[in-house]
Amino acid sequence: MDFTLSEEQLMIQKAARDFAQNELLPGVIERDDAQKFPAEQVKKMSELGFMGMMVDPKYGGSGLDTISYALVMEELSKVDASASVIVSVNNSLVCWGLETFGSEAQKEKYLTRLSTGQCIGAFCLSEPEAGSDATSQKTTAADHGDHYIVNGTKNWITNGNSAEIYLVIAQTDISKGHKGINALIVEKGMPGFEIGPKENKLGIRGSDTHSLIFNDVKVPKENRIGEDGFGFKFAMKTLAGGRIGIAAQALGIAAGAYELAKKYSKERKAFGTEISNHQAIAFKLADMHTQIEAARHMVYKAAWDKDQGNNYDLSSAMAKLYASQVAMDTTIEAVQIHGGNGFVKDYHVERMMRDAKITQIYEGTSEIQKIVISRSILRE
Ligand code: CAA
Repeated sequence: MDFTLSEEQLMIQKAARDFAQNELLPGVIERDDAQKFPAEQVKKMSELGFMGMMVDPKYGGSGLDTISYALVMEELSKVDASASVIVSVNNSLVCWGLETFGSEAQKEKYLTRLSTGQCIGAFCLSEPEAGSDATSQKTTAADHGDHYIVNGTKNWITNGNSAEIYLVIAQTDISKGHKGINALIVEKGMPGFEIGPKENKLGIRGSDTHSLIFNDVKVPKENRIGEDGFGFKFAMKTLAGGRIGIAAQALGIAAGAYELAKKYSKERKAFGTEISNHQAIAFKLADMHTQIEAARHMVYKAAWDKDQGNNYDLSSAMAKLYASQVAMDTTIEAVQIHGGNGFVKDYHVERMMRDAKITQIYEGTSEIQKIVISRSILRE
């Protein structure tokens, strides 16, 4: 067993750390306050190759492994989880899904633009009545020979307005259940495709989350990903990798809050000494550090499984379940260690606590991860 990161992985980790400190940290509080999408920062991340990290260079990607992707997600999330979710969705839900299951023509037309950050993508599965219960798709894609006609509504779509390319999951043949579902590439501007209102969120307020409305949207058949009826499996396989990205995001939020709390505890004095000298605080830091390290091992292991070609459904679900809990617990304690200052926006940890919550919800709630985990272990 070798826990050492390669030279290349260390380099990319440092690049992401520097970028987060120099480019994401300034203005992160204001963007959160104003719900401002980090457009300039996304442009710079594209230049660094962060928008198509695992994509083959022949399609404009950086050709990196999943561990490098997790390292970048962790570093960005230490500072700005709104920016990192944009990266995560584009990389693991959109680019990976297209590269792995798309046709050559789809890759040429869409993947290069997405992996170089010329545009960003969105993954559209959730609906008003189909969040966790993802097979109950009400959005329809009626087969009309050489095209589909799409009707319905999608909810809580990350990059909802900022995206230009949307991977939309829709039901073509209800009699076939999940085997009648398709994944279609929909472009912004297709007639009948409207962006709904922006959500006013608790956390990750810099990312834009919208509902999407489809009214008789004509989508050519060449925009279907995979065989007829492959859409649900496409969503499940893609989400298994996406969960590594979100687990790494949760890990980063936890690690960022822990680093701030540790630093603060060595500066802030109470009862005549730095508060880190009080065991009540020191033990909190010990627990945080231990849990973060455990989460880190689980996230890297899931990424490693993916890189090795192992099945990663179980390891990614466990990594997300655990890391998101650690993100929640750690950020709450980070606020506590900061005391009154923890409740004030300038100290960052209250934002991290708000941001942490979504990691237990999107790309499969913690309860859904337990379904995936329990089914997997009971199958053995
Ligand atoms: N890989 C391949 N196939 C898979 C699979 C996987 N990981 N998981 C399930 N499947 C297949 C099953 O084998 C089955 O196929 P067969 O009938 O051919 O065997 C089919 O999919 C249906 O599976 P289930 O019977 O297990 O379906 P279910 O209704 O019980 O649901 C579930 C399973 C795990 C609960 C699933 O619905 C699920 O993951 N729900 C959560 C969805 C989710 O993560 N939503 C997040 C929205 S996206 C988002 O948040 C993006 C963002 O913007 C940040």
